[in-house]
Amino acid sequence: MSRRIRMAGTLLAASALTMGALTGVASAQVDSGRAAAAKVDNPYSGAKVYVNPDWSAKAAAEPGGSKISNQPTGIWLDRIAAINGTGGAMGLRAHLDEALKQSGGSPTVVQLVVYDLPGRDCSALASNGELGPTEIDKYKTQFIDPIAAILSESKYANSNLRIVTTIEIDSLPNLVTNTGGKPTATPQCDTMKANGNYVKGVGYALNKLGAIGNVYNYVDAGHHGWIGWDDNFNPTAQIIKQAATAEGSTVDKVAGIIVNTANYSALKENNFTVNDSVNGTTVRQSKWVDWNRYVDELSFAQAFRQELVNVGFPSNIGALIDTSRNGWGGSARPSGPGAKTDVDTYVNGGRYDRRIHIGNWCNQSGAGLGERPKAAPASGIDAYVWMKPPGESDGASSEIPNDEGKGFDRMCDPTYTGNPRNGNNMSGALPNAPLSGHWFSAQFQELLKNAYPAL
Ligand code: BGC
Repeated sequence: MSRRIRMAGTLLAASALTMGALTGVASAQVDSGRAAAAKVDNPYSGAKVYVNPDWSAKAAAEPGGSKISNQPTGIWLDRIAAINGTGGAMGLRAHLDEALKQSGGSPTVVQLVVYDLPGRDCSALASNGELGPTEIDKYKTQFIDPIAAILSESKYANSNLRIVTTIEIDSLPNLVTNTGGKPTATPQCDTMKANGNYVKGVGYALNKLGAIGNVYNYVDAGHHGWIGWDDNFNPTAQIIKQAATAEGSTVDKVAGIIVNTANYSALKENNFTVNDSVNGTTVRQSKWVDWNRYVDELSFAQAFRQELVNVGFPSNIGALIDTSRNGWGGSARPSGPGAKTDVDTYVNGGRYDRRIHIGNWCNQSGAGLGERPKAAPASGIDAYVWMKPPGESDGASSEIPNDEGKGFDRMCDPTYTGNPRNGNNMSGALPNAPLSGHWFSAQFQELLKNAYPAL
C-alpha cells in the first residue's frame, strides 16, 4: 500500500490512490475478519453457550433454582432501549463483553432474540410492542442498525463468539394463519400483511445481521400445533422465503429456523404417533390432533426444515427447538398410551402435553422444564435451546398499566373461556401473572416441579 502511494504522481492521484488503498485495507480487514470467523455449519457444535448473568441471578435466588441457574437462556432485545440495557438489565455490549470473558478463548454461542417489529404480536396483546404498524423506518434505523453496528465492532466480529439471532418470534406465522377472513384472523394481522412491514422488517434484519461473519440467523417458524396443518405448512415456508429474499436479503443469510419459542408443545410424543388408528379411525381425527400432520416438535422441526430446503433454502440449514418449558413431567405425566376404546380416549390418555387445547400459550399450568440445552441432539437439529428464559411471564393475568407497549390478553387470565385461536377453550393460564417478560416466581417453581427429564 505505501509503495502505491509513493508511486502516485500528483496530489490528486495520490489521494485517489490513498482512498483506493484505504478501501482495500478496509475490505481486507473485513475479509480477514470473515475468514477468522468463517461460518460453521452448526454454530452450537463444539461450542459453549453463554449464560446470561441477569437471568442466572434470578433463577439462583429461587428455592431449588441453582439446579438450572447455570443454563444458557436467550437474551431478548424486545425494545430499542434493551440495546443499551433497561431497568438495571445488561445491554448488548455488556452481554457480549461478559460472553468474551465466559468464552475463555473457546467458541461460544450468544443467543439473541430480535423482537421489536412494527405492530408486533398482531394476534395477541400480551407482547404488543413499542412500534406502531407503520414504523418500519424506525425499526430499521433505531433497532436493527444499532444492533448490527455493535455486532460489527471488531472485538466481537473478529472474536470466537458465534452470535445466534432468532428473528421476530410469531410474526410470519401470524401472517399465514391469522389473516384473510379466516375465523382466526385479527384486524392487526390483516394490517401487517397488507402493509408488508413484517416481511420487510424480517428481510432487513436477516440481510443486515447475516452480513456479519459470525452471526447466524434463525427465522421463527411457530410450532407444530400452529403450522403443522397442511393449510399452514407450505404457506409458512413460502412466506419465510419471501421475507428471506426481501430488502436485499437472500436465502443464504439464513442459518435455519427456530420452533416452539416460548411455547409448550411436547418434544417427542412416545405414547402415540400420527399414523396410529383406533378401531379403524385415525388419531388425526381425534379432538386433540384435529387433522394435524404432526404430534410433536421434533418431527415437525425436521419436516419443516426439509420443506424450506424444498422451496429453495440451502440444504444445510438447521433447526433449533425451544425446550425451555415443554417437559410435561410431574405427577400428571401419563406412564403409557391411553386405552384403545376410541381415538379421543387413546390420545388424551397418552399425550404428554396436558394443555386444555394446543392453542393455549400463556403461562401454562402443569408445564415443566424440557430437555436441557444440547448441541446437535438429532438429525437436522442444531440444538435444543432455552430461548424463553424459564420464570419469565408470557403475559399478565389482569390489566397492568406499563410503558412497554404491552396489552392485556385474556389468554393469560385463568377465568377466560377462549377465542377461535384456542377453539374457545379455557386458557389454562396460571393466576396472578405479571407482565410478559417480568419474573414470575410461581411459574418458575411449577417448571422445576414438572421438569422432564426430572432435575
Ligand atoms: C415478552 C418480552 C420478553 C420475552 C422473554 C416476551 O413474551 O414480550 O418482553 O423479553 O417474552 O421473557
